[in-house]
Formats: sequence, C-alpha cells, structure tokens
Amino acid sequence: RSIPAEPEAPAGTLEALRAEAAACTRCPLHAKATQTVFGEGPRDAEVMFVGEQPGDQEDISGRPFVGPAGRLLDQVITEAGIDRSTLYVTNAVKHFKYEPRGKRRIHQKPNMGEVKHCRWWLNLEMALIKPKLIVAMGATALAALTDTKQRLQDVRGKAIAIDEERTLFVTVHPSYLLRIPDERLRAEELARFREDMLMVQRLM
Ligand code: URA
Repeated sequence: RSIPAEPEAPAGTLEALRAEAAACTRCPLHAKATQTVFGEGPRDAEVMFVGEQPGDQEDISGRPFVGPAGRLLDQVITEAGIDRSTLYVTNAVKHFKYEPRGKRRIHQKPNMGEVKHCRWWLNLEMALIKPKLIVAMGATALAALTDTKQRLQDVRGKAIAIDEERTLFVTVHPSYLLRIPDERLRAEELARFREDMLMVQRLM
C-alpha cells in the first residue's frame, strides 16, 4: 500500500526550501549525518544568527543550537534582552560532520569545500528571510558570509555594512567559550561575548 504523499509546500517558501534541503546530497556529509538541520525562526525575522554546523544533539533532534552551545547562547542573549523566538537561527553547514570514537561522535570542523557547497542553502535562506542584521558566530560563519579571508579578531564586535540594507556583526562561536580550559580566560571571553550580544541588541 502506498503512503500518501505529503502536501507539497508552495515553491519559493521557507517550507519548500526546508523540504528540498532535507534531501540534500550536494556534498558527502549527508551520508553519515542523521538529518539535515535547517534554519529555524520566523519568516519575517529581522535578525539572523549563523553558527558553524549542527552538533551531536542538533543532528539527533533536527533543530539548530539545542545542545550545550545553544544553551549558552540562549542564556547570554536572554540576559542581553534578545528574544530567541524573534531570531532566525541557522548554520553555515547543515549536516553534522564527525568522527566516531567509541560510542561518541567527535565534532570535526567543516572544510572550505563543504562550506562553499552549503552556502547554496544559506544564500537561499538569506534571500527569503531578508534579515537586516546578520550575526556570524565564529570563523566558519564568517567565511561562509564573506568571500574574503578576514581574520575573526580583526572584524569582531563591529557592525559592518554589507550593503544599504544589511549589516554584519561578527563574534565568536559559543562552543569556543565552552572549550576554553583556563577558568579566568573563559570568564574574560564570556564577558566579551556578553558585551557583543548587548551590542547586537542595540543594533536590532
Ligand atoms: N554549533 C553550531 O555551530 N551550530 C549548532 O547548531 C550547534 C552547535
């Protein structure tokens, strides 16, 4: 017995794009990942946050920034007065890249080829959402959003005009903060990230 087909989302909508991305095989990463983790948020969001790629928990749940990095992000943006439900949150790369180690799956950084392949989806998300402010978290997001090889520390914490309609704000990735072993350094870097999010709130 055949399963009735899902009603198709109208072409050109976010739902149609999400459905297309769910079947993406543009690069080899889809083969090992559980599912495509597409962006999430209102169609008319004015602010888009871009991370690197889904992690272990995102790969399983199918939603961006729901694991440890997402919890830290939620906490800091909430303190800064930003309501996550108003944001469109997505990643530069939509599949989890990892190496199995025993029972664990160890995150691997996506390479530039993978970032370039996946930029296809990021560009389509941006074309549909048309955010006024784009927040790049980490070097991978920065590379995906700008063609030039800018160093994160040179552009961090500044509002950069992309064109007349759009502003780019660059900050670190919350996972970076979680990985800093030295407690004092971690607290300092966390304080800088909090300042960055306050600046984002003022730009909104
Ligand atoms: N790190 C990311 O870059 N994105 C996620 O969705 C989760 C962790």
